[in-house]
Amino acid sequence: MSAFKKFLTESAEKVDNFLSKWLLSEGYVGDLCTYAVIGGGKKFRPALSLIFAEDQPDDVKEDILKAACAAELIHAFSLVHDDLPEMDGDMERRGMPSFHARYGHAQALLCGDWLSAASFRLLAELSKPEREIKISDILGKATTDMIEGQLLEFQSEDSSVDGILAIHKLKTGALMKAAIMSGALLAYGESALESKELNIYADNMGVLFQISDDYLDIEEEETGNIARKLGGRKECYEFASKIADTAKEAAFSFFGKNNRKLMIQAVDFLLDRMREAD
Ligand code: IPE
Ligand code: IPE
Ligand code: MG
Repeated sequence: MSAFKKFLTESAEKVDNFLSKWLLSEGYVGDLCTYAVIGGGKKFRPALSLIFAEDQPDDVKEDILKAACAAELIHAFSLVHDDLPEMDGDMERRGMPSFHARYGHAQALLCGDWLSAASFRLLAELSKPEREIKISDILGKATTDMIEGQLLEFQSEDSSVDGILAIHKLKTGALMKAAIMSGALLAYGESALESKELNIYADNMGVLFQISDDYLDIEEEETGNIARKLGGRKECYEFASKIADTAKEAAFSFFGKNNRKLMIQAVDFLLDRMREAD
């Protein structure tokens, strides 16, 4: 197992432990939402936040875990709504019935709504109010961008590579970037947000994740699938490798030296999952 896969497994365990207790403590709806949040998901977004918790004092570690979990709640909300018949109409998710298939459509709408609000209640538990305000802004903007991306995907008639990438950046990249920037902000303060290298890394990781997802989903009929648009898996892998190189180069120059190794391994994890699918 690669070092990042081990890190991802350990991060997912921390996130699942924290969120299962937190959701239960929120009462009936929290308990119902557990199905959408716990078990099965890779927890890749929170792992990207937790990269920056390495070598930090315990109070910072705890805040990063909470911010990481808040991003995961937004992700879970996006998937519950994404699977509804009015959207992608998927009856399965993570090898199980999707949320609406299991609990009903009204329940899926309401649980998605609940998760999006609950995410910001969790952020309100951060130990430093000024960080809470900034991260709420980062996560709030990522959420509105994600929704804009989903909407544009429905409406878009521009199926050029650039058009598809612009939608990827909004629907998937924004939340991925928010997870990275929140973790780095809590670890290093405002200077992290201004780091050109970190911004390049985060922008490219978000897009690369969705490209790897499209690579795995190439058999599905989807006009917005970039692997199809590029002409197949081989072409898609070459395209993804260039984005991966840009992300790795940026990570290599990022001032947070202790985080560079995991940042680079996270990029390789996305390339590996493409190669492993063949
Ligand atoms: C799937 O995301 C939806 C996309 C934005 C591509 P993930 O592949 O991270 O889903 P889980 O949480 O691991 O199931
Ligand atoms: C889901 O994208 C993106 C969001 C929920 C924001 P996809 O529709 O491509 O992902 P899957 O295939 O349902 O996981
Ligand atoms: Mg979908």
